[in-house]
Amino acid sequence: MANHTEHLRITPVTAPQGVTAGQADEPVPAARRRIWGWLDERLGLGALRYNIPAHANTFWYTLGGITFIGILVLVATGIWLAQYYNPAPAAARQSVLYIQNVAPLGDIIRGIHVWTAYLVVITAVLHLIRIVVTASYKIPREINWLVGIALLFLLLFGAVFSGTVMRWDQEAYEAMAHNMELATLLGAIGGVFSDAFTTSVQMLPRLYSRRVSIVPLILALLLIVHIFQIKHHGVSPTPTQADAGEAPNGRLPK
Ligand code: HEM
Repeated sequence: MANHTEHLRITPVTAPQGVTAGQADEPVPAARRRIWGWLDERLGLGALRYNIPAHANTFWYTLGGITFIGILVLVATGIWLAQYYNPAPAAARQSVLYIQNVAPLGDIIRGIHVWTAYLVVITAVLHLIRIVVTASYKIPREINWLVGIALLFLLLFGAVFSGTVMRWDQEAYEAMAHNMELATLLGAIGGVFSDAFTTSVQMLPRLYSRRVSIVPLILALLLIVHIFQIKHHGVSPTPTQADAGEAPNGRLPK
């Protein structure tokens, strides 16, 4: 048995020059090693590992990861809220009050969902600022920069803006009015945001159905590309290291 899983253990990886190999060189507790070995054997999670260069071992380089964990919290709490939310305009507000006052743990879960949404936007913007300051948007990471911009837009408009409308209070009503103005401004391509798109479903349930179908789907696809790119390129060198021609970019040796 021991021999069977031998090749799956977290093996120390020789770090590229200038890289403190992060988790690869640190001793891994036996229990964690066993759990990781079990999961890795079945899911091949080891394929996602990459080294953390010494300069990236700071809070600023964890902001993308914090944002990612925040998104997972939003999905989990959002699924819970969807069990009680009713997107019909006549019932929406009442269902929000139901979540708040009657549904089990409703007020807590709703609070976690809303505050996590704000936190995710803040950490995503701070993450973007870190990328700018360390010039990580430069070649060969330009596509990941664009994917990041798309992620931020999707979070802001696909999730936070539409989430405000879901509340169906005065502020939500005004946000919906902005949505209609946008539809007019966009002219021919604004149709999907306008009331005239169809008479069979009203705007609120239409926004809601997109928010729980298309938006998470595109978000998941973009995140897969983003994470694949991070794994592919490794963490970027600092601008000073890049100028000096050093690139301890955390890629694992092939
Ligand atoms: C919105 C959700 C986002 C998530 C979940 C996310 C996640 C991550 C993670 C986990 C990393 C690696 C660790 C780190 O550097 O923090 C990363 C790196 C990166 N992200 Fe994001 N990110 C998001 C948004 C963005 C945005 C808005 C941009 C820029 C427009 C961006 C551009 C990049 C780039 C260029 C890298 C590579 C950085 C490097 O190699 O130093 N990301 N992202």
